[in-house]
Amino acid sequence: MKGLILAGGSGTRLRPFTHTSAKQLIPIANKPVLEYVVNDLKNAGITEIGVIVGHTKKEVMNFLGDGSKFNVHFTFIEQDAPRGLAHAVLIAKEFVGNDAFVMYLGDNLLSNGIKKMVEKFKNSDYDSFLQVTPVSNPKEFGVAVVKNNQVIEVIEKSPNPPSNLALVGVYIFKPESIYHAIGRIKPSKRGELEITDAIQQLINLKYKIGVFEIEGWFKDTGRPEDVLDA
Ligand code: TTP
Repeated sequence: MKGLILAGGSGTRLRPFTHTSAKQLIPIANKPVLEYVVNDLKNAGITEIGVIVGHTKKEVMNFLGDGSKFNVHFTFIEQDAPRGLAHAVLIAKEFVGNDAFVMYLGDNLLSNGIKKMVEKFKNSDYDSFLQVTPVSNPKEFGVAVVKNNQVIEVIEKSPNPPSNLALVGVYIFKPESIYHAIGRIKPSKRGELEITDAIQQLINLKYKIGVFEIEGWFKDTGRPEDVLDA
């Protein structure tokens, strides 16, 4: 399997820090968030890693280098503008090739990592795995509706979410199905190719999608208060 780290984006919610550097490089306990992400992939046995970079590509590439200091190999993929999470997957098509891959948001931290999720996926016949966790405030998340161990619907932030299983930071996809699905979506109202729309297409196309409920905590470090919390 390969890894795909999303380390582009605009980081507007973390201004002014993101005026001068990448949010994925903000240190948590003296290590950039991105370093935890790389180590987590490596710990799951994934060493071929694509990294989506945006306007902060210089800082991100300087920090990561070619991967030798982490014992992995990086391929950098430039995104001309933050056109959405599914757009990031789309432009990584050549890097992905024929391999299943873990898509990891570069500003997310997980206390227990992804190893179990990756192993469970490898031993399953699912086309995709979504990482989820029950939350008390599902209105603030995209959520997955699950029936008989399969995702039957995904819903973007909604005032009346029918599930409390929030989608968090890590997804596993197979190339054939996810590129089939992305080919069928259009930019959303905010002008982005949304990963939830692509997942809904996977469901419509009858691909088999499972969830992996995380153990321990996760933190999206997208806002200053999240960074402090982390
Ligand atoms: P977000 O936090 O959803 O978006 P953002 O970085 O643009 O932040 P803000 O909403 O504050 O402006 O992105 C999640 C992760 O994915 C983060 O590491 C940035 C990355 N990303 C990309 O690489 N490409 C994209 O097109 C988008 C939207 C995000």
